[in-house]
Amino acid sequence: MNKADRRPLGRSGIDIAPLVFGGNVFGWTVDEPTSFALLDRFLDAGLDAIDTADVYSAWAPGNQGGESETIIGNWLAADASRRDRCVIITKAGAALKEKGGGLTAANIVASVEASLRRLRTDRIDVYFSHFPDPVTPIEETLRAHDSLVRQGKVRAIGASNYDAGQLRAALSASAQAGLSRYEVIQPEYNLYARDSYEGPLRDLAITEGLGVITYYSLASGFLTGKYRSKDDLGKSARGARVGNYLNPRGLRILEALDETARAHDARPGEVAIAWLIARQGVSAPIASATSIEQLESLIRATRLMLTSSDMARLETASDPQA
Ligand SMILES: NC(=O)c1ccc[n+]([C@@H]2O[C@H](COP(=O)([O-])OP(=O)(O)OC[C@H]3O[C@@H](n4cnc5c(N)ncnc54)[C@H](OP(=O)(O)O)[C@@H]3O)[C@@H](O)[C@H]2O)c1
Repeated sequence: MNKADRRPLGRSGIDIAPLVFGGNVFGWTVDEPTSFALLDRFLDAGLDAIDTADVYSAWAPGNQGGESETIIGNWLAADASRRDRCVIITKAGAALKEKGGGLTAANIVASVEASLRRLRTDRIDVYFSHFPDPVTPIEETLRAHDSLVRQGKVRAIGASNYDAGQLRAALSASAQAGLSRYEVIQPEYNLYARDSYEGPLRDLAITEGLGVITYYSLASGFLTGKYRSKDDLGKSARGARVGNYLNPRGLRILEALDETARAHDARPGEVAIAWLIARQGVSAPIASATSIEQLESLIRATRLMLTSSDMARLETASDPQA
């Protein structure tokens, strides 16, 4: 990957290649050997940022959370040169949410130690608050994160699933108390789900110069075009999650992706990722893959240059107000 293509994550001093590997598949739809092969290929292609969370992949039968970090940790440990070539992103809070835990200082301190142990590393590059915690005062959460930064256990912190008001409050609390601020945000954003990011949250991210890594960048696989009718929903364990996209607007988006893909001899999912990479207010999309073939497609997406008329066609087809 060309050095010029790297994207800064806010003022953290960390920059990344323009595609983040989504690690929620490890231990869920991908076993350990395939996970290793995917991570090898990802790194060989010049990509470097890997997103996971303490809670991944607790929803898979027989799992309890931590499986994804464990697989990544085993892969890092198998070759000592890998750690310095990767940007490791993980999150705290969701594993404890159902137990009433959230982002208290005690929980953050306990969670980071568990994540470092599973990841078999001495530092996390970006440590996210997975969801806003409506109960714990934001100063307590930020102070705990800040102490991890000072100890060198975490290089930068981020906020996922925060709305503009929650993010603004967190940024002002860290500025007032002289604490590390959330340098990176992780919102849901893709050609189908545009509403919650575009608007005040994106404006704030741009004004504050934050890094933005988007999740569900392929709308759980819908934007690859493999689900065109209800009969297709059985194609993957994720099919149940994409049924809601099968409506006139979703199909209009697929048509625009098909047309754009044909013009570039590319695949619809590659166009959906290239759209995000080109979008103002996006540092890099996060996307996952369950096979090398899918990963090759994601890698091609990082090299796909869309024209202004491609961007306009996709903009019109996916307009949330239309
Ligand atoms: N912060 C948060 O709250 C949050 C929430 C959700 C996700 N995330 C992060 O974002 C990442 C990405 O989300 P995601 O993995 O759930 O969804 P996604 O990236 O929108 O969809 C990826 C899935 O689409 C399918 N796919 C990928 N490439 C394909 C291709 N070329 N052809 C056909 N199918 C293809 C694969 O699933 P199948 O092969 O199984 O169909 C793959 O696992 C996660 O791994 C996680 O790191 C964060």
